[in-house]
Amino acid sequence: MALLSNFDFELPTKMEYGIGVSEKLVHYLRELGAERILLVTDPGIEKSGILDPIEKQLKESGIYWTRFSEVEPNPKDYNVEKGASLAREDGSDCILAVGGGSPIDCAKAISVVAVQGENSIYYQDRSRIGKEVLPIIAIPTTAGTGSEVTFGSVITDTKEHFKFTIKSPLIGPRVALLDPRLTLSMPKALTASTGMDALTHAIEGYTAKNAEPIGDAIALYAIELISKYLKRAFDNGEDLEARAGMLLGSTMAGIAFSHSDVAAVHCIAEALGAKYDSPHGVCNAVVLAPMMEYNMNYCQEKYAMVAKAMGISFGSEKEGALKAVEAVKKLAEDVELPSFRSLGIREGDMEELADNSAKNGSNKDNPRPMNREDYLSFMKDLYNRK
Ligand SMILES: [Fe+2]
Repeated sequence: MALLSNFDFELPTKMEYGIGVSEKLVHYLRELGAERILLVTDPGIEKSGILDPIEKQLKESGIYWTRFSEVEPNPKDYNVEKGASLAREDGSDCILAVGGGSPIDCAKAISVVAVQGENSIYYQDRSRIGKEVLPIIAIPTTAGTGSEVTFGSVITDTKEHFKFTIKSPLIGPRVALLDPRLTLSMPKALTASTGMDALTHAIEGYTAKNAEPIGDAIALYAIELISKYLKRAFDNGEDLEARAGMLLGSTMAGIAFSHSDVAAVHCIAEALGAKYDSPHGVCNAVVLAPMMEYNMNYCQEKYAMVAKAMGISFGSEKEGALKAVEAVKKLAEDVELPSFRSLGIREGDMEELADNSAKNGSNKDNPRPMNREDYLSFMKDLYNRK
């Protein structure tokens, strides 16, 4: 641990965790002085019935709201622009984001664009994000992205097929209501992909070049929770304790990586997601264990700590690190995630995917330095594996 290195740690989000806490929404809206809400969500949540008790609370309180449910998976730049113009027309003074990472990330970008104008990509440069943003209350319905506590919003530039990130504590939600009951309805495949996304956040956040001790401690507990509960939540979606462990684990993983960074797994996953619109968690899951192998000599000590957090016993540090990779691989198999090749990756796209991975803002934080050629050979190798 680099005790002589400087770091800072900021968490602007008030979190309330527990069964039924989403019923306290109106209390928090009043605390923020919110009178006109833009509810940002997606069509899947709209169909699931999750919104019914939430909108019932709004109705009974007399608080005005408008529902914007057009957010797509891998949220697009035009989703942000549309939501922002709706917020402006409607005079919204607060955003309520309900859903997985896509609606919450989209809400963060809307919170800036609605007030400060311009297109979302303009705010890639974080110095352009002014203080005036719409406050966000986030209610996550998946146990994955941790977006309810992170400062990042990942948006797809649909012209360039590239994902860009808007990142600032200013867009972190003001309140996150973590109600495990809301994650019960997640289907198996979504449980698996979002859970592996959370594990990737914890492991990449913990091993990122600019990791710091507070985030490290949080990441290790997240790894413990996710490795203990993901398979259980996958096997039985009604297992409330497992769902609760996953929600807490994914939120903690979000806190960890938001203060350090993600790394090469996400660089590839975001390139894949932008190109093929494939689920973010699946893209991470197929790359995580092979990337750990690739990074091995640059963070062996930390990988041994990952093994320890996963409850694995080992002798030498090297043995522990190798066992961590095996355990991650097994967990991805246990929750039936596919292979890299099965994502429909075309060999002819590899150059573009390598370009976009190398120019991702998180590339600099991978423990092992990687350039475009490294990404290309890594992906070709992975493509040729069974
Ligand atoms: Fe992620």
